[in-house]
Amino acid sequence: MKLWGGRFTKSTNSFTDHFHSSISFDQRLYKEDITGSIAHAAMLGKQGIIPKEDAELIQKTLKEILADIEAGKVAFDEKAEDIHMNIETILIERIGDVGKRLHTGRSRNDQVALDIRMYIKTEIKEIQTLLKNTMMILNQIAAKNTETIMPGYTHLQRAQPITFSHHILAYVEMFKRDYERLTDTYKRTNYMPLGSGALASTTYPLDRDFVAKQLGFDNITLNSMDGVSDRDFCIELVSALSILMMHLSRFCEEVILWSSHEFHFIELDDAYSTGSSIMPQKKNPDMAELIRGKTGRVYGNLMGLFTMMKGLPLAYNKDMQEDKEAVFSAVDTIKMCLPVFTAMMETMTICKQNMYHATKGGFTNATDAADWLVKNGVPFRDAHAIIGQLVLYCINHNTNLDDLTLQEYQAISPVFNETVYDAIRVEKCVAARNVKGGPSQEYVQKLIAINDDYLKTI
Ligand code: ARG
Repeated sequence: MKLWGGRFTKSTNSFTDHFHSSISFDQRLYKEDITGSIAHAAMLGKQGIIPKEDAELIQKTLKEILADIEAGKVAFDEKAEDIHMNIETILIERIGDVGKRLHTGRSRNDQVALDIRMYIKTEIKEIQTLLKNTMMILNQIAAKNTETIMPGYTHLQRAQPITFSHHILAYVEMFKRDYERLTDTYKRTNYMPLGSGALASTTYPLDRDFVAKQLGFDNITLNSMDGVSDRDFCIELVSALSILMMHLSRFCEEVILWSSHEFHFIELDDAYSTGSSIMPQKKNPDMAELIRGKTGRVYGNLMGLFTMMKGLPLAYNKDMQEDKEAVFSAVDTIKMCLPVFTAMMETMTICKQNMYHATKGGFTNATDAADWLVKNGVPFRDAHAIIGQLVLYCINHNTNLDDLTLQEYQAISPVFNETVYDAIRVEKCVAARNVKGGPSQEYVQKLIAINDDYLKTI
């Protein structure tokens, strides 16, 4: 008979058992479930709700079950539905009537709400460790490339010269925010729901604060219906992970572009590239493409969770069993993508000459030429028009601003003199952008130091 079978006269149809069982995926929560049950049992004993010896035997047996699961000695049963009832069933098989006292003052509804919170808290810390490592590696790449000059783009058209450090550090800023978003999610997940019961709490004198302390929660939930029925912290986690994936995906898109023959700004290490089964010359950026592709999976998990929750009346509904696969999938995806991405970046070769060369075409120093005119008394709008004419002249004569003669310059504006050449050297253009937040060789050094300090505090 099922643990809840008292009021039933028939057993469930076997297909139904398969349909509503979640053990195939929620067995991942075995540790959280057992740890939560140990704290609950300890509290029941302390409060005199069940005999102390029973509470002790339950705790001891739960620890043995945990060790047996970890040793691969336990087979779960689909008929026992989920991880909560599988473990309770095993407990009762081992210690009989004493085991039947564990579920006093508790429901699976607050139990699962506890387990998923505990799981998410652990995973947030692990993801943050991986993300911190990614930021450290990127900051190191930036430190080695403060003098590496490349074109910056808008509309994927060459725009203005920057340092490669500056480009890399843009992503470090995004990842810093991703890290902080996870810290925020952790704060709001850190509420202990046991004691909510099925929905309306319990008549037993539970010590909820004791359980929270045992399990490392900073707070308890303050409304039993809310405690069992919201999954906003799951949505918040997968939302933070979706944003993180979006950032990774954009970076991967650039890695894919940069490793093409057309750009040739980087070369990926053989260990992070793949070949073609037909074209012998190919070396493909598959890892970057897969990370870009897997972003869709995480967004899908987010949409699934939102849609699953949107119409649910308070309090618990079985729909919510669907939360777990979405959360697991998002967490697993991120935990695979981050280390692959980081290693791919760490091992790539940076083709500095090609980057530098690319700043020479595309008139990336045109703004600086206009700024030179402004510094020599020409209003900016006029300067813009003059340089526009010069650019057109260069296009028609297949040359660039650096290679025009002074006569050619002066034919368009008499204001020009020899000093313009130095002002429009790309090294100069970059160095001159030395405001806080700019790409200059000097400022990126400062930002790298700021990041080093930040990484020490997290
Ligand atoms: N397996 C269920 C879930 O994941 C546990 C809670 C079930 N509660 C219930 N009343 N059916 O949500």
